[in-house]
Amino acid sequence: MKLLGIYGSPRKGGNSDFLLNEALKGAESLGAEIHAIRSFDLTISGCRECGGCDKTGKCVVRDDMDSVYSKLIESEVIILATPMFFYGITSSAKALIDRCQALWNKRILEKPPERKRQYDSGRGYLIAVGATKGTNLFEGSEMVAKYFFDALDKSYEGGLFVRSAESKTAVSERSEVLKEAFELGRKAVIGERFHVSK
Ligand SMILES: Cc1cc2nc3c(=O)[nH]c(=O)nc-3n(C[C@H](O)[C@H](O)[C@H](O)COP(=O)(O)O)c2cc1C
Repeated sequence: MKLLGIYGSPRKGGNSDFLLNEALKGAESLGAEIHAIRSFDLTISGCRECGGCDKTGKCVVRDDMDSVYSKLIESEVIILATPMFFYGITSSAKALIDRCQALWNKRILEKPPERKRQYDSGRGYLIAVGATKGTNLFEGSEMVAKYFFDALDKSYEGGLFVRSAESKTAVSERSEVLKEAFELGRKAVIGERFHVSK
């Protein structure tokens, strides 16, 4: 089973990286084939809203997204990890997601309307970290993740949401959070829902 981890932070070795690493270890412990990309290291322009994918389900823009599409499609499980930037996901992760408008169109074009509410291509999870304690800190990002996975014909199965983590190594000192991340990776392979909010 192929599992794709998307590192959404520009800060290498930071909190969301750390949690995604643990989740990938959990998934690997159950035999998943791990693949990973870092959105900030890729050149991915935003969606131009040109309509070029409307009738084909294929994006007309040529950049690093070319190689990302096949990874998104071939992976049964995707875990997106991101810090909160102004109550949202990072701009590089959002650019990648916006370019999935092509896959949203592909799904509409290929899927019979009566199966539109069904997800046949796997599942997705979100790992999100923020410095503050706000109750609604992750609400917007969860919606983004849900509809990202919807475009990929994958169900959104929840995630791990960690507050009060600001310094680069903050989560590495919270062993209970690291255990939850490992568990998320295992649950993702088993195919179970996961929702832990700290
Ligand atoms: C541009 C920017 C915007 C941020 N906005 C928020 C925010 O809205 N809410 C919050 O709780 N933390 C915010 N933070 C703090 C980060 O989410 C926090 O430091 C997080 O641990 C970074 O994760 P990382 O180490 O994986 O990059 C922001 C940080 C930056 C650099």
